[in-house]
Amino acid sequence: MLSTRLKSLIQIIEQHAVGEEFYDIACDHCLVGEYFFNENRFSKVYCIDQSRKALEIAFERLKRNNLYSQIPDGFFYKNSALEINHEKGENLTLQKKSTLLLAGIGGHTLTRILDGLSGEKNFSHFVLSPHNDHVHVRRFLAQKGFGLIEESVVQDKEHFYEVYVVSMAERAPIHPYGSKIWQNPNNTSYLRYYVEKLSRYPNSSENALIIEYLKQFI
Ligand SMILES: C[S@@+](CC[C@H](N)C(=O)[O-])C[C@H]1O[C@@H](n2cnc3c(N)ncnc32)[C@H](O)[C@@H]1O
Repeated sequence: MLSTRLKSLIQIIEQHAVGEEFYDIACDHCLVGEYFFNENRFSKVYCIDQSRKALEIAFERLKRNNLYSQIPDGFFYKNSALEINHEKGENLTLQKKSTLLLAGIGGHTLTRILDGLSGEKNFSHFVLSPHNDHVHVRRFLAQKGFGLIEESVVQDKEHFYEVYVVSMAERAPIHPYGSKIWQNPNNTSYLRYYVEKLSRYPNSSENALIIEYLKQFI
């Protein structure tokens, strides 16, 4: 069952997808991969997670939904268009220009995975939704030469999730404290919530700088 957050991520991916292949790195439930497999949007969907337990649970659902008819091949359950791999995202090599999702993981894990990726990274689009350390992620992206395509926020009940679409082929700069996200008046509630959260830690000198920067958008 897709949550509001996952439905919004899917919409963003549909809007910005490039290439023939889709990777959901740190997929856990494989729900996004299952959606794109059913939609036939990509010629190949890869679901990757380091947790064997998570993939076993996902695999049982995929079997019930008749998406897998094969006998499991070791731990790598494959059919021609949907592949579930038990591995760490940082060990991946992209075969082709692709669209990649990294969502629901910490900012440091996300940047470690991005750093480790090799292959057709330069030509791919990344949809990123770290659940913390947003400044660290944006700074890392800027340093590595990524450019900003879209920056938004998804609300699911009382929770907010930042989402960045980035590519190495894009030139728009990535500001460490955010840019497009704050220019969108639909994100005002999140902006106020974010400033309030930062104000709870007044001893952090960077928080004071971020709050000062954000004032121009309020
Ligand atoms: C909270 S779930 C997020 C699931 C999904 N991406 C989402 O947004 O709903 C986090 C998942 O990240 C996986 N994970 C964490 N670090 C990883 C890594 N380095 N490589 C692959 N998977 C990882 C965990 O095993 C877990 O299943």
